[in-house]
Amino acid sequence: MTSPIHDHKPVPMTSARVSKLCGTISVPGDKSISHRALILGAIADGQTTIHGLLEADDVMATAKAMGELGATIRQENDTWSVDGMGNGALLQPQEPLDFGNAGTGSRLTMGLVAGYDFPVTFVGDASLSSRPMGRVLNPLRESGLQIESAGKAEQDLLPLTTHGAPLPLPITYRVPVASAQVKSAILLAGLNIAGVTTVIEPVMTRDHTEKMLSGFGADITVLTDENGARTISLVGQGDLQAQDITVPGDPSSASFALVAGLIVPNSDISIEGVLLNPTRTGLFDTLIEMGADLTISNQRTSGGEEIGDVRVRSSLLKGVVVPAERAPSMIDEYPVLAVAAAFAEGETHMLGLHELRVKECDRLNATVEGLKANGIHCTEGEEDLRVIGGAVKGGGIVKTHLDHRIAMAFLVMGMASEKPVRVDDTYMINTSFREFVPLMSKLGANLT
Ligand code: S3P
Repeated sequence: MTSPIHDHKPVPMTSARVSKLCGTISVPGDKSISHRALILGAIADGQTTIHGLLEADDVMATAKAMGELGATIRQENDTWSVDGMGNGALLQPQEPLDFGNAGTGSRLTMGLVAGYDFPVTFVGDASLSSRPMGRVLNPLRESGLQIESAGKAEQDLLPLTTHGAPLPLPITYRVPVASAQVKSAILLAGLNIAGVTTVIEPVMTRDHTEKMLSGFGADITVLTDENGARTISLVGQGDLQAQDITVPGDPSSASFALVAGLIVPNSDISIEGVLLNPTRTGLFDTLIEMGADLTISNQRTSGGEEIGDVRVRSSLLKGVVVPAERAPSMIDEYPVLAVAAAFAEGETHMLGLHELRVKECDRLNATVEGLKANGIHCTEGEEDLRVIGGAVKGGGIVKTHLDHRIAMAFLVMGMASEKPVRVDDTYMINTSFREFVPLMSKLGANLT
């Protein structure tokens, strides 16, 4: 059984060179924060209100799942409300939870229900059904979670059914891969387990779960040692209080317009209200090192997160080495960085890319194939990528493999390449950034 959510006819699109991209835009709400706001709202006492929730397919799948688990979710204009069930009071869903293409929604929800003594079936589209769930399920098994169903459950692939233990145990877990999803799943499980759940994170990843748990009143502490390793401890079975949340603009979505503004000559683009949490801004640092005219102004705090306005003007970029340590803070941005690197002078060498192999597709390979289809010299290592920049011919057809970020990155390439770039399917852009085509067109892009 795979998800009907993305049972769709491919929607190919061509992006042709333009003479400039100019204007001021805002991008929709951050995807990571949107998932977490719905999930914590569902288990808080009272009504959580969310402004600027990302209304894209991935987040809507999480909203539906929280509804199946008992929360009441409503939308009125651009404000969403979640009537929470209270911590420990979720209900057994009557239907399989269909997460479509959404890795974050599905993995976080596996953690959320791991402390409940009832079965939950998870399904997803072809992409999600090929992504490894063992990274989340294995630590949860230590709490007593059982994986019950047939399907491909024995390989820890969707579809699968989980069943929490009647008396789940709190665990201490050292996360072996830099993954905010794994960290978050364990912490969410710990919310409904008596005792202290501890996650040790040797390399810091996006910290929205910790921040938001703290904001909802959870008993959570974070200690950072001299090497940067973080120990996050959560006391289970406390009450959470409903919050009023404003979701900042998603820096991962902003990155497409920013790179477009750098590589298309005569461009000047501003994006207002972008999340600037340092666990998310590795691409901005990298682009500045490459010589980008990228400035940040009007820095302020909103809902406990730093935000600001980001402006780019066309720039002559040069190749750089992107160190492996930076990967967690820009893990979703490598396809569009590779496009920027194609237009840069010299070689850009990106290191520490093993996690790209398990994204919505093998994103490292899909990026390399897309670059090669458009005449770019590049080398794919097991976990690194070298791109030799210069004149970008374009003219290729890019296979997107159900991956929204591959589609958007290569449409950006076409905005500045000699010949148009065609991508085989843009439907999946709806999973994260439904406004991509209208916003880019407003700035001057030629997408047909
Ligand atoms: C996310 C974490 C990252 C990222 C994903 C969103 C999150 O995944 O790629 O798009 O919201 O926690 P990993 O945890 O697998 O690195």
